[in-house]
Amino acid sequence: MSAPASASSAPTAVDLFSGAGGLSEGLRQAGFQILAASDHDPDACATYRLNFPEVTMIEGDLTDRANHARLANLATPMNRELDLLAGGPPCQAFSQVRNHDRLLEDPRNRLYREFVNVLDELRPRALLLENVPGLLQFNAGEVCEQIEIDLSLGGSYDVRSQVLDAGDFSTPQSRSRLVFIGVRRGEVLPGRPAGSGLTSNVGLRRKSVRGRARYVLEGPEELVERLLDPADLAAVTAEQALSDLSRPGDRYSSDPRSVFQEAMRARSDAPQDHSPSRIREDTILRLKGIPPGGNVHDLPAELTERYLTGKKWGPAGNGKRLARRHFYAYRRLHPRWLAWTANTKADFAYHYRQPRGLSVREVARIQGFPDAFHVTTAPQGTPGQLYGGARHSRYRQIGNAVPPPLAVAVGREIRNALAAALIRAAGEPVPAQSDYLE
Ligand SMILES: C[S@@+](CC[C@H](N)C(=O)[O-])C[C@H]1O[C@@H](n2cnc3c(N)ncnc32)[C@H](O)[C@@H]1O
Repeated sequence: MSAPASASSAPTAVDLFSGAGGLSEGLRQAGFQILAASDHDPDACATYRLNFPEVTMIEGDLTDRANHARLANLATPMNRELDLLAGGPPCQAFSQVRNHDRLLEDPRNRLYREFVNVLDELRPRALLLENVPGLLQFNAGEVCEQIEIDLSLGGSYDVRSQVLDAGDFSTPQSRSRLVFIGVRRGEVLPGRPAGSGLTSNVGLRRKSVRGRARYVLEGPEELVERLLDPADLAAVTAEQALSDLSRPGDRYSSDPRSVFQEAMRARSDAPQDHSPSRIREDTILRLKGIPPGGNVHDLPAELTERYLTGKKWGPAGNGKRLARRHFYAYRRLHPRWLAWTANTKADFAYHYRQPRGLSVREVARIQGFPDAFHVTTAPQGTPGQLYGGARHSRYRQIGNAVPPPLAVAVGREIRNALAAALIRAAGEPVPAQSDYLE
């Protein structure tokens, strides 16, 4: 049997489906020593290696059992037991589940099954599985219940799920995540991290001023004040996140203007990847007609013509009006509020003040990645590389990630619970958390 660590040594973790490393970055900041990570995307692996030179990256398909064996060798160095298995497997088939027992058997859920298999093989002290909150809606919550049952490995683990929004945890973005946390049966489950409460209490309201749309902040005064205070790191607006990047290029436009910017610029002399994608002249004209916080629905009629400058774009024969009219089209950030959930596309939102898209660095800031975290790609033509080119790959890697500040909040709770369990096991009284951590 492996030996447990002592409460004072860094807890260890393995990150599956690690992508560029958002979850790992947060766990590292929370004090975990990441022993191994695994992903099959060559570009994400290149970024991971660049930023985590101390971690062994297993580049390959996690459905390949040979990779499980390699993980098992790395996860328990010197026969010390692994503290945390973490990961966010893509889950394709959960929405179709009729018979909830079949979740693990459905071939389209094979990646989720691999997480459960590795959990069974490594038997860590704790587990963390991250996914989208949409899972809660499937089969009236039965899918979520079944995941808790699967992860319990027949009663070996106690598992609890919770929905957390990154916007409540020092991230300038509303991004809701479903998080499953488990510990060995009989251990005390980690607590729910305390967030600012911003995302459930504050929001933007659309007003019409002289026939034109405007978006204004609405919510309890005390929370709005905290949000607008650049010295308060718990609640961060888009402007507090991005204003020192107002000029694209390889230099900061100003000194840091918020504690968030100070934190992001630690160990970084210059912003990397700070040139937004080119956009059409028609798009620039349209953006000028949309108020901050608004979208395509706020366009004045004259800007909904399909062609504004006469230059033709897109497939011909699509009518005289703009076809792209869904909620996600032409969204402009609001400087005094959080960004919408970033996705893998460069055009998920546009700048709040300038008629332009966001650079990879700006999206990374919105995700809470420090500027010293650089994004890269594998050499062009590497087998397994996804289609779309280097620029698109960078947006995809960052857009796919767990916001590191959210991972920090969850990671700290797990670390506290693991340290307290060791102290309890040694027969000592458990002191206040601050006495044994940090
Ligand atoms: C949502 S992303 C993970 C993001 C990551 N947790 C982060 O915070 O940056 C899911 C990852 O699963 C990886 N993936 C998908 N299928 C895989 C497979 N068969 N084997 C290994 N990795 C896989 C993808 O390449 C992608 O990076």
